[in-house]
Amino acid sequence: MTGSNPFQDPIRFQRRVRPCALVIFGANGDLTKRKLIPALYRLAFERRLPPGFSVIGNSRTAMPHETFREKMKEATRQFSEDTEFVDSIWDDFAQGLFYESGDLRDPACYAAIGHRLSEIERTRHSGGNVLFYLSTQPSHYTAVIDGLGGAGLHQGNGWRRVVVEKPFGHDLSSARELDDRIHQVFSEDEVYRIDHYLGKETVQNILAFRFGNGIFEPLWNRGYISNVQITAAESIGVEGRGAYYQEAGALRDMIQNHLLQIMATVAMEPPAVFESNAVRNERAKLLGSIRVLRPEEVAANAVAGQYGPAGVGGQQLAGFRQEEGVRPQANTDTYAAVTFFVDNWRWAGVPFYIRSGKRLAKRVTDIAIHFNDAPHSPFDAAGMDPGAFGSRPNLLILRVQPEEGISLRFLSKQPGSGMTLRPVSMDFKYGSSFGVRSPAAYETLLVDALTGDATLYTRQDMVEASWRAVTPILDAWTATKFDFPNYTAGSWGPAASEAMLNRRGHSWRTP
Ligand code: BG6
Repeated sequence: MTGSNPFQDPIRFQRRVRPCALVIFGANGDLTKRKLIPALYRLAFERRLPPGFSVIGNSRTAMPHETFREKMKEATRQFSEDTEFVDSIWDDFAQGLFYESGDLRDPACYAAIGHRLSEIERTRHSGGNVLFYLSTQPSHYTAVIDGLGGAGLHQGNGWRRVVVEKPFGHDLSSARELDDRIHQVFSEDEVYRIDHYLGKETVQNILAFRFGNGIFEPLWNRGYISNVQITAAESIGVEGRGAYYQEAGALRDMIQNHLLQIMATVAMEPPAVFESNAVRNERAKLLGSIRVLRPEEVAANAVAGQYGPAGVGGQQLAGFRQEEGVRPQANTDTYAAVTFFVDNWRWAGVPFYIRSGKRLAKRVTDIAIHFNDAPHSPFDAAGMDPGAFGSRPNLLILRVQPEEGISLRFLSKQPGSGMTLRPVSMDFKYGSSFGVRSPAAYETLLVDALTGDATLYTRQDMVEASWRAVTPILDAWTATKFDFPNYTAGSWGPAASEAMLNRRGHSWRTP
């Protein structure tokens, strides 16, 4: 019962998908079972998928359709934490699940998929509309693109689109190369580069918060903001992805994409309309205004860390170098913190501190906007010490996850005689205000790609600007032999990270 609160009507604002089919390359992988299929099941549960909606999974391992359906059923039961598993809904959805094994370098693989797509068009009325999803190892992306082009599957009776999972290249030149290859087959409006952080409700809400209200935007600049801190901390380690992660590292895995996209959303100029290219133009402009560090500036503005073993809560946690698939001398950053500056009128001189790491003290992603202190405090004499309360006032916190919401921290008089002040907080919590479940990022982004809305997808100019911003750091770190490990699992990262902020008179807020 949703009552009279329109915010609690889960269906009212939702878009539905028109007839189409989805082809997933890498269907045997983690992303398919943990995120994609559970997200599609949720959409089926909400009746947002069209009748006849079909999915073709592809990977190397041969298996009958029925085995694929069973595997996906198990995965959906396991990974759909907040959605009831209803057999009849699953059975209906699973009738549209197909599987075509094949080697991505073999034209026969695409011929089989093409054949299956034609049959789906005829019998399940997909209208010839197809979304291809690249969820394989990145080194296979170009083979898939070439294979699709070679078999003519990039064209058909309906629309054709392709979603490309991150990482989009491993540096600037490989990102450009990949883009060139994709454009030999697909046009730009058919390419959807996914960054799942942009699909998170709270990241989207940054735009609503900033540009739907008149209160905050006048303060949203160098005149009032002293620094911005963006934290994406994870308590988990590399979870069986050691081999991938030791080549990637935190800077590539989280900062180059997710956190720079968040930073762009926090700092971009208002778009005139909420339309795909208008929004993306502003994000792109912001990313293009990030100052690219000179090699000699890297040491003072970027900190790398790697976790060592520790006993946390009675549990013995392995250090990164002891994780499966990781070389004993791996020089990988499992923690990265960077000070970025935006060279434009709004932000000149304001540091954006960004950090991310594995095996940190807790899982939290948030953005803290630190406003300037009052220019003069008449209360100083009362011995007010905001630091004594563990958190500063003049602070706006946008909490991305968990416990999504927004808090404003300010000083208030403590009840009683005398003028003692202490920080208090005014809180908005998604859960209690809206009372409905927030869709998972992949639900939002799949619907967007299936309905042709690219607003929350990145563009090549954004990808390149982000690579440009991190390249000097990657170059410097590749040439450095770090004295790792330099933080223990379960801590807040290396001491050098705090020192980086202290040099500018700031310090990390503990989220
Ligand atoms: C992925 C990274 O892109 O994002 C992972 O490759 C990371 O290393 C994950 O754990 C975090 O996503 P989320 O949605 O759980 O915050």
